[in-house]
Amino acid sequence: MINIESLHKSYFRGDTPLPIIRGVDLKIERGEFVTIMGASGSGKSTLLNIIGCLDNADTGTYHLDGTAVHAADSDGLATLRSSLIGTIFQSFNLLSRRDALANVMLPLVYQGTPPSQRQALAFAALERVGLADRATHLPNQLSGGQQQRVAIARALVNKPKLLIADEPTGALDSHTGQQVMDLFKALHAEGHTIVMVTHDAHLAKTADRVVHMRDGRIVI
Ligand SMILES: Nc1ncnc2c1ncn2[C@@H]1O[C@H](COP(=O)(O)OP(=O)(O)O)[C@@H](O)[C@H]1O
Ligand SMILES: [Mg+2]
Repeated sequence: MINIESLHKSYFRGDTPLPIIRGVDLKIERGEFVTIMGASGSGKSTLLNIIGCLDNADTGTYHLDGTAVHAADSDGLATLRSSLIGTIFQSFNLLSRRDALANVMLPLVYQGTPPSQRQALAFAALERVGLADRATHLPNQLSGGQQQRVAIARALVNKPKLLIADEPTGALDSHTGQQVMDLFKALHAEGHTIVMVTHDAHLAKTADRVVHMRDGRIVI
């Protein structure tokens, strides 16, 4: 599903390149659940953003489901993202003035799904995360764990081939974090491919495989 070879990326401070990803090779099979761990600043989010087609590398190759992502321009990345990938962030990123159902419908609006179908699809995604009875609640009327489950429903609504999550439990207490992790575990059991960054070694072990990063490289 994911085949990354010799990936490099630098950010610039003035004219000085700061190498952030320094030669990453990574293969992830369809249906795998992989967590990425490493110290703060080791490049985890940068790598996950490249995997999630939110950003492009400078050099190296990235094939996602057979598509040469490294050759895509920013429009191409946006198309890949909306058709193949569901993204979950630490801070939920819900629209505060829209209820749960409207938040979950948003990707369908961007995708061009006919309006008549949007509501039923979004409702089914909310049902999947156990929040059908919260469809008309605004984000600030939901707990942190419920908001993250709405964000997961939003990520699922397009039936993406790949779910990426950057520290999805980072803003939650450990009990709620475990519940969110259990939801990811169940989604994995249903066949989803998941790549997740986490700080928590205990939660990381939920996955099939833990990848460790240090200074922009994958270490054993
Ligand atoms: N947009 C950016 N511009 C400049 N430097 C950045 C940018 N994003 C991240 N960095 C730097 O790249 C390094 C790796 O960041 P990141 O991938 O977010 O690490 P992690 O997620 O492992 O904490 C950090 O030193 C960070 O300051
Ligand atoms: Mg990060």
